[in-house]
Amino acid sequence: MDSFSRPELFDFHGVSMIPSFTENWENIQNFQARPDDVLIASYPKAGSTWLCHIADLLYFRQTSPEREKSLQLHLRVPHLEASFVVPGTGPPPKRFNGTETVNNLKNSPRLIRTHLPIQFLPKSFLEQNCKIIYISRNAKDSVVSYFHYERMTILNPEPGDWSSYLQRFMDEKMVFGSWYDHVTGWWKKKQTHSQLHHMFYEDLIEDTGLEIDKLCHFLGLSPSVEEKERIMNQVHFEEMKTNKMVNHSSFRVMDVNISPFMRKGKVGDWKNHFTVAQNEEFDEVYKKKMKDPTLQFCTEL
Ligand code: A3P
Repeated sequence: MDSFSRPELFDFHGVSMIPSFTENWENIQNFQARPDDVLIASYPKAGSTWLCHIADLLYFRQTSPEREKSLQLHLRVPHLEASFVVPGTGPPPKRFNGTETVNNLKNSPRLIRTHLPIQFLPKSFLEQNCKIIYISRNAKDSVVSYFHYERMTILNPEPGDWSSYLQRFMDEKMVFGSWYDHVTGWWKKKQTHSQLHHMFYEDLIEDTGLEIDKLCHFLGLSPSVEEKERIMNQVHFEEMKTNKMVNHSSFRVMDVNISPFMRKGKVGDWKNHFTVAQNEEFDEVYKKKMKDPTLQFCTEL
């Protein structure tokens, strides 16, 4: 593991990426979605792990109770574009391949996770009219969460110090590219793909029950009151933080002593990171880049 070096960002069709999300590109682009596949999409750090866990429990908790106890979340809801050799394993080294993992799923529907910007979405998801859930989170908390995440995982580029990291975010040089383009691009897609349900992390924090109700309505699910209650308890931040099947604590590529994956789970933690000057500059840049008045984020509750 010591000899493993962190990847460098490179430009991939106008989007900053790293090899572990582009290496398998042909299989990603040619991926054959099925009409009942459910895609969970987001920019990194928007609460996608939370949403994947919620969706997986809604679909399978009752019919396959062993599933959540025996399978790590990334094997229940595979990350489509991820493909990498797990550092420090082998010989032969262990590999994770997102498209292969999805294709080997036996359950139906298949739940699939992606962080791809809209222009990279494999076209079969739209052709098959799949249900898609996109979750977004305000930019300030997203960049803070991303910073701590990149500190703790050697799979991502070296984050450097906070102020240069924040600058890089504003310069749109992040893995999966520009936050501004990502959230705006997916937001626009709602107009043409009626099967797209948009969620905000902040709403999910503020009223988890209501957001689960709306999600169930979209997915055509109707859990009983007791079942919904049970799921709400299981997806609570404190529960997920100690659940080894979802908290990433056993991943060799992540050092939870540097920063836990389930870090704070709050709205407004950015206030503990941004200086007044950084906040002012960030707001200026934000105004220039975010032109759609219909897309509004909340940065505090
Ligand atoms: P913080 O770093 O701000 O704590 P993703 O899964 O898309 O990578 O997003 C990770 C972020 O979602 C982290 O944010 C993580 O703590 C938060 N998160 C995960 N599960 C959560 C939960 N049950 N409740 C609230 N936040 C959660």
